[in-house]
Amino acid sequence: MRRGVHVSLEGIDGTGKTTQAYLLLNWLRSQGYRAKYTAEPTYGRVGSVIRLHVYRIRKTPIEYEALLFAADRVEHYLKFIKPLLERGWIVVSDRYVHSSIAYQGAALGDARWVREINRFAPPPDLAILIDVPVGKALKRIKRRKAKFEKKEILAKVRREYGRLVESGEMKRVDGSGPVERVSCEIRKMVEELLRNKRLVAKPLPQSAPPRPA
Ligand code: TMP
Repeated sequence: MRRGVHVSLEGIDGTGKTTQAYLLLNWLRSQGYRAKYTAEPTYGRVGSVIRLHVYRIRKTPIEYEALLFAADRVEHYLKFIKPLLERGWIVVSDRYVHSSIAYQGAALGDARWVREINRFAPPPDLAILIDVPVGKALKRIKRRKAKFEKKEILAKVRREYGRLVESGEMKRVDGSGPVERVSCEIRKMVEELLRNKRLVAKPLPQSAPPRPA
């Protein structure tokens, strides 16, 4: 049984997901919730293969990439996310299944098959799109641009994310404003989810009141 809550943060490259994930995590912890950060691709067996090869090799078939991401996700869900949810934790994923639907779905022009191979990874309770225009997102990426970080590709991916918002599967946050404003919007969405799920904070050991002498 899932007792915790799974929130995923999504967006094209350069939207500040990781910064936002950590801000959310710090806030949740400050409120006494037990919360963990995680990211995809993982650093597990398949995730490491993706990080090593897929980003660097230009001509990997999209189907092959999609299957690798899906395999990484099954392991991620079963070994890491599910056990935490069963113990009542909040899991904040820096990318999850909607990344595959948006990136590989856009590249293949067939999101249905991408969904099908991902059916072993249950959807998150809340998927938030941090939406930033492509030009702005690309400017934020200072290091050498990786495989997917090209204008035309990201424009397609953003459109795919947009469709997921329109269908109600994801919630959108305007990511082009200051970091603090974006984080405040994300926090409000998560607060609402926690209220609906009636998840109560458990005081962390370090925040327990001191014992009387
Ligand atoms: P990130 O480390 O900035 O999140 O980048 C991960 C890259 O991998 C990003 O370009 C998106 C891509 N990706 C997919 O194409 N499909 C997926 O399912 C996942 C998790 C990531």
